[in-house]
Formats: sequence, structure tokens, C-alpha cells
Amino acid sequence: MRLDKLLANCGYGSRKEVKLLIKKGAIKVNGELIKQVNIHIDPKQDCVQVQEATVRYEEFVYLVMHKPQGVISATRDSRERTILDLLEDEDRLRNPFPVGRLDKDTEGLLLITNDGQLAHRLLSPKKLVGKTYYAEISGEVTDHDVEAFKQGVKLDDGYVTMPGQLTILKSGPVSEIELTIMEGKYHQVKRMFESVGKKVVYLKRVAIGDWQLDPELKKGEYRRLLEEEISYLRKL
Ligand code: URA
Repeated sequence: MRLDKLLANCGYGSRKEVKLLIKKGAIKVNGELIKQVNIHIDPKQDCVQVQEATVRYEEFVYLVMHKPQGVISATRDSRERTILDLLEDEDRLRNPFPVGRLDKDTEGLLLITNDGQLAHRLLSPKKLVGKTYYAEISGEVTDHDVEAFKQGVKLDDGYVTMPGQLTILKSGPVSEIELTIMEGKYHQVKRMFESVGKKVVYLKRVAIGDWQLDPELKKGEYRRLLEEEISYLRKL
């Protein structure tokens, strides 16, 4: 990787700014002062220092956000605010993207990374990774719905879902439920309830596998994943 690109990726400024840093003699590679901007280095082997401080290069970035309502889980949009607008500049540098989509009015657990392989595995229905949602439903959710979801329900486009595990937390005119599904079809939870004649009025993703939304994260907040969280997700 080119030295100027690595430094820009690590938050030391734009490519133009880091070129200036290099020319000013602020950068050492393996203890040697470097003045050419176009040298290539191996981020895993070479020791890069900026004004004597060693640069820690991480290829991947892993963030967890408590997505609030009102922002879309896309990387760019001409009209709407996206989840990337909630990130600090330095966290956007390595082009992270949301893993799977949550609707604009859905809240909850959102993984944001640039690790395409991990994202692909977590989203693939073949890997059977459960995504668990808490929802409030207008209408009385019954054991009949639990059984229907267990069998798989037919959505408005004729697609029959994989089995979903529905747990009724409270049944009434507005019911509270938890639903775990392995797929992520467009508006899937809302459409599953529509298929049994009910309407989702509030939706929040609370877990991916056994990885739960951190209760310390307030809506709109995010943090870096801990090493053990990354290893857990890699093993799913
Ligand atoms: N299912 C939905 O209907 N919406 C979401 O945001 C996520 C799952």
C-alpha cells in the first residue's frame, strides 16, 4: 500500500495533507526518515511513525450503532440523513457500510463495517444467523400466529419465508413480541405480520445471533466492537 494512502486512511489528513507531512520530514518507516510520497509499504510488517508516534493500521473497522428512527441505513442519499452522517469523520475513512438494512423507522442494533466477507456471512440465509426483533403490533398476536411463523408465511409477492420464532411477550390490542428470523427480505418483519392481518407499529432489532444490543448505547450512539465481539461474529 502507498504510504500516503495508509496515512490518509489512518486519519492523518487528506492525501494532499499527508504528502506535505512526508515532504516536511515528519515520517519514518522502520526508523528511517522518508521524503518520497510514492513508496510502498507493507502495513503488517513495516513500522510507520508520524513525529515519532507509531501508526496503528487496521484494515477493517467494526462499529456497532444503536440506530435511531429517522435515518436510513445506506451509505449515501441525496435527500435523507444516513447512518454515516452520525459517524465521526475518522470513522468514515475506511468506507464502512451497514450490514443489512433497517428501515428508516426501525431502531436498534446495526453493525457497520468494511469487512465484506463478514457482512456476507452474517446476511446469507444459508448461514442461519438469527436476527431478533422486538416489535409492537397493532392487534392481538395469538398462538395461531406463532404456529404460522414457525411454518413460514406467504408474503405479498408470493415468497414463503423460512421458519421464524415468534414469542408473545404481551397480547392485547397492542401486542408485544420478539421474532427471530434468518433472512432479511425487504420489510420482512412488517410483511410477515401483514400476512396474518396485523400491523407493526414499532420495530427494534435487539440481537444478531446471541450478540445483543449494548444497553449502554443510547439511540444514535455507536462504538468500536470489542475483540471478543468480532471473534464471536466471525464464528457465527
Ligand atoms: N423487517 C422490517 O420490516 N423492517 C426492518 O427494518 C427490519 C426487518
